[in-house]
Amino acid sequence: MIRVDNVHKSYTAGKEIIKGVSFEVQDGTIFGLLGPNGAGKTTLMQMISTLLAPSSGSITIDDLNAKDDLLEIHRRIGYLTTEVRLDPMSTPDKLWDFFAELYDIPLKESVSRKNAIFGKLGITPFKKKRINELSTGMKQKASIAISLIHNPPVIIFDEPTNGLDILTSKQVTDYLLELKAEGHSIILSTHIFSVAESLCDEIAILVDGKIAAQGTVEELTQQAQAKNFEEAFFRIYVENHVEE
Ligand SMILES: Nc1ncnc2c1ncn2[C@@H]1O[C@H](COP(=O)(O)OP(=O)(O)OP(=O)(O)O)[C@@H](O)[C@H]1O
Ligand SMILES: [Mg+2]
Repeated sequence: MIRVDNVHKSYTAGKEIIKGVSFEVQDGTIFGLLGPNGAGKTTLMQMISTLLAPSSGSITIDDLNAKDDLLEIHRRIGYLTTEVRLDPMSTPDKLWDFFAELYDIPLKESVSRKNAIFGKLGITPFKKKRINELSTGMKQKASIAISLIHNPPVIIFDEPTNGLDILTSKQVTDYLLELKAEGHSIILSTHIFSVAESLCDEIAILVDGKIAAQGTVEELTQQAQAKNFEEAFFRIYVENHVEE
């Protein structure tokens, strides 16, 4: 379980980017972060992944915190950033093997996991191609596969379907639903409403570093008295955004 409690973050003194955010994500559920550009989604996800420290407040993963249990937290988290960071001269296959060794995954287990994940995401025919020769979608899927190499119970994916066509996007969302059914806790951010609607058990709408509304798609739509979720999002944004 992921617990975020009254988290604040400033990059520079006097300018708060995250202004007291709290939520919980239960095992076997998908929690969505939605919000306009600059709302603070990536900042929040980097803090949950321990890449950034909160200015105040606390974040725990299965009651572990980054101060006392950093290594164990890293074992439990799979984090996907929006920038592709794979070595352009390497291949999906070689990168997998490299990270498997780094994580001390026994060879047999690594090979069977690689075959399963590469198969599910359609990477197999491309696994020996250089990263810089792959399409955006294939690079993204290779990043996703490698971020899950250690089978982490907690998955934090920043815009996992960004730049993907509708077929590739479906491969990724179907896979996320499978991971959820296996009991993983998942936090994802997205700008794509259909992804949020089809995947998320609960959604937090982040506006200017605060959770403006939180609930299921149906609850949020009802609360905003909107005809659909997209309209609800606009209403919630307009009601909560403050021009500086
Ligand atoms: N390293 C940094 N130093 C200073 N300010 C930063 C830094 N990173 C992000 N910010 C600022 O923090 C705010 C939130 O940025 P963040 O990237 O978390 O938003 P986001 O919700 O992920 O946006 P997007 O939808 O565009 O990805 C923005 O105003 C951004 O300019
Ligand atoms: Mg972002």
